[in-house]
Amino acid sequence: MSIPITEDMMRAVVVKQPGPVEALEIVEVPEPTPGEGEIAIDVEYAGVGFVDTLFRAGAFDFPVPFTPGIEVTGRVRSVGPGVTGFEPGRPVGACLNDFGRAARAGGYAEVAVAHATMAVPLPEDADRARVAGALVNGVTAWMALHDLARLRADEDVVVLGAGGGLGGTMCRMAAAHPARKVIGVVGSEAKRPAAPAECTDVILAADLDDALRRLGGGRGVDVVVDPVGGDLRRRAFEHLAPFGRLLIVGDASGDDTALPGDGAWLNSRQVIGLSVGGVAHLVPQSVATASAAVIGLLHRGVLNEPVPAVVPLSQVADVHAALESRTAPPKTVLAVRE
Ligand SMILES: NC(=O)c1ccc[n+]([C@@H]2O[C@H](COP(=O)([O-])OP(=O)(O)OC[C@H]3O[C@@H](n4cnc5c(N)ncnc54)[C@H](OP(=O)(O)O)[C@@H]3O)[C@@H](O)[C@H]2O)c1
Repeated sequence: MSIPITEDMMRAVVVKQPGPVEALEIVEVPEPTPGEGEIAIDVEYAGVGFVDTLFRAGAFDFPVPFTPGIEVTGRVRSVGPGVTGFEPGRPVGACLNDFGRAARAGGYAEVAVAHATMAVPLPEDADRARVAGALVNGVTAWMALHDLARLRADEDVVVLGAGGGLGGTMCRMAAAHPARKVIGVVGSEAKRPAAPAECTDVILAADLDDALRRLGGGRGVDVVVDPVGGDLRRRAFEHLAPFGRLLIVGDASGDDTALPGDGAWLNSRQVIGLSVGGVAHLVPQSVATASAAVIGLLHRGVLNEPVPAVVPLSQVADVHAALESRTAPPKTVLAVRE
């Protein structure tokens, strides 16, 4: 006689085959359980980023079926073996882009599993929608500007895609660090209001060369943050001062234009890449430190992340469509339990 196995079920967005927004299906699936070193989270809010659209569309070789979503907040549901400091019921935020350890994301679901080193306890009164919208971009910005670029207070930073999610957080993190100038670059006049108020200057991509010649004062700029790629990346690189750093953190344009290596050599410039999801398992302490720094800066009002647009899980396809048409608000989070 077979013993029936009863599994607790949950509501989740599932991608069975990568494709257009219609690939996002809301279905009932078994709840995940935490393994060694992991925690399960009752998800309240899941942040949505452009990278989620890339996963959904099949830009990465990711095993199917999967649930997108790489940043969540909620309460600890249960903990796996070996985990301390995350008692059930405690408010928590977690990045789920720990791809070196587990090829999963899982945020757009009522229950998600995170490695404990990717999770951070939250104050009881933390705004959990805001934190869910700030985690991945905040951690990326901290690691890029603090750990890698080692940004100094007398340096000038240019941020491409300043009206976008990661670009906006980069501007605010650079201002908080602080940097001297924070120059935001947007694609059109219509996007100008989307650049953070923390920018000392906002320029149009079409005017990049003239504007950076003027703002760089003949020396150039110290740091360029690039989540966009393409021709803009190549042009911005040309405006780096000696020992200036180009931080490549994304490719929203999908155009990986080659950079001239001799330009780095002859002008003593550095090109630095960062994919948090690719290295999180190698530098768990750096991710944990960055997460704690972001939560602390947010909670004290130093990192002024915007209140995100909050939409129910059922509108996930609309959110992806808006990101792909470049009409999305700076950040959107899904209210998973509404
Ligand atoms: N390194 C990491 O660990 C990490 C972490 C998070 C995100 N990312 C990456 O960062 C990139 C940006 O993500 P995001 O969430 O900030 O996206 P987003 O909110 O959509 O912002 C991207 C910005 O790029 C600009 N852009 C220029 N050409 C574009 C094009 N052809 N299509 C779309 N946008 C274009 C847009 O600004 P204008 O319209 O003003 O030009 C847009 O505001 C993605 O490649 C993502 O994978 C990397």
